[in-house]
Amino acid sequence: MPGPLRRRPRRLALLAPLAALSLTVAACGGSLSEDGGDGDGSDTVKIGLALPASGVYEPLGVDMTRGFELYLDQHDGKLGGKDVKIVKGDEGEGPDTGVPAVQKLVTQDRVSALVGIVNSATALGVKDIVSQAKVPLIVANAGADEVADGQPYVWRTSFTNGGVGEALGGEVAKELGKESVYVMAADYAAGHESVEGFKKSFQAAGGKIAGESFTPFGTTTDWQPFLSKAQNSGAKAVYVFYAGGEAVNFVKQYNAFGLHDKIQLYGAGFLTEGGVLAAQGDAAEGVRTSLHYSNLLDTPENKEFVEAYTAAYDGEQPTVYSVQAYDAAAVLDKALAEADGTSGEDIAKALDGVGEIDSPRGTWSFDENHNPDQPYFLREVQAVEGGFGNAVLNQLN
Ligand code: BEZ
Repeated sequence: MPGPLRRRPRRLALLAPLAALSLTVAACGGSLSEDGGDGDGSDTVKIGLALPASGVYEPLGVDMTRGFELYLDQHDGKLGGKDVKIVKGDEGEGPDTGVPAVQKLVTQDRVSALVGIVNSATALGVKDIVSQAKVPLIVANAGADEVADGQPYVWRTSFTNGGVGEALGGEVAKELGKESVYVMAADYAAGHESVEGFKKSFQAAGGKIAGESFTPFGTTTDWQPFLSKAQNSGAKAVYVFYAGGEAVNFVKQYNAFGLHDKIQLYGAGFLTEGGVLAAQGDAAEGVRTSLHYSNLLDTPENKEFVEAYTAAYDGEQPTVYSVQAYDAAAVLDKALAEADGTSGEDIAKALDGVGEIDSPRGTWSFDENHNPDQPYFLREVQAVEGGFGNAVLNQLN
């Protein structure tokens, strides 16, 4: 479990100046320096934030921006003792918008490091761009298994899609005994990997799959045909991967279709995380998920974080997305404190030595593939004061 936090919660006195700094810098053209980014030797480091400001994952981008800015505010607007200039790019819903946004941050804005990327397909589309440009990318959400593996300029402060699904499979097999599960997910890298991870541990523990459906990502509005298949399969439970706006619509339709009380719903924790849970309301009650965070995590470190976050953002609760971006700032803070300079290559070298990160989720460190080695929790949606929350039932690993 986590070690003591060394941060002091402070009000967001610096948010206004930070917001001003967040304006995209004027396009300056020119080519990259050989060691990535501007790295001009000054004491200001330019960080690109590539997050969705539009599309089904836009709310995730809001939470992540808040997490990153909260960390900066708590550290006088500096990372590793250096002033920070944020340059924002809109990732949008997928690679069509996300790849050009990253290209611009790297080649025109000439940032020294990048933070962000929600969508796995976008992450897969940009990993070679940042590696060729020698600009380190801290992926603060997208979980595609291959994104960080073997990529010297890519680190991840979030999770792998397979890892979140795999954390839950054994538990579901234990809860269901000999009964089978129907699996369903958004039809892109994240959905497929989440289902594969779940099936791996579920089947290894003796579980049986009754059938599967992959639904068109970002365009599915009616889940009824897929829910009929799940119902007719005879499964006693359903496992899904949906996030953002899709998670809201799916859970509401699962309830409206009459499955809520008949077929236990499980999922990767994004299904009931943050704002989507507020929109789902009692349709989500009893849904069980795996994730590496809940704002209800009962540790002093998390309570301190939740208090600082809610004070900074008008009572809004932090989400796993906020924590992943908060930790991306913590990682850069440690790396920049040790780096020889502010070029991409300097930062990348220092990232190899950041060691343990004290986080609201618990202490974690990068594994050999630059992914977090971290605890996963079994969560259940329960009624809490003022609405619903993801109660933590136990740790899964
Ligand atoms: C992904 O594309 O990897 C992803 C998107 C939203 C939530 C979780 C994962």
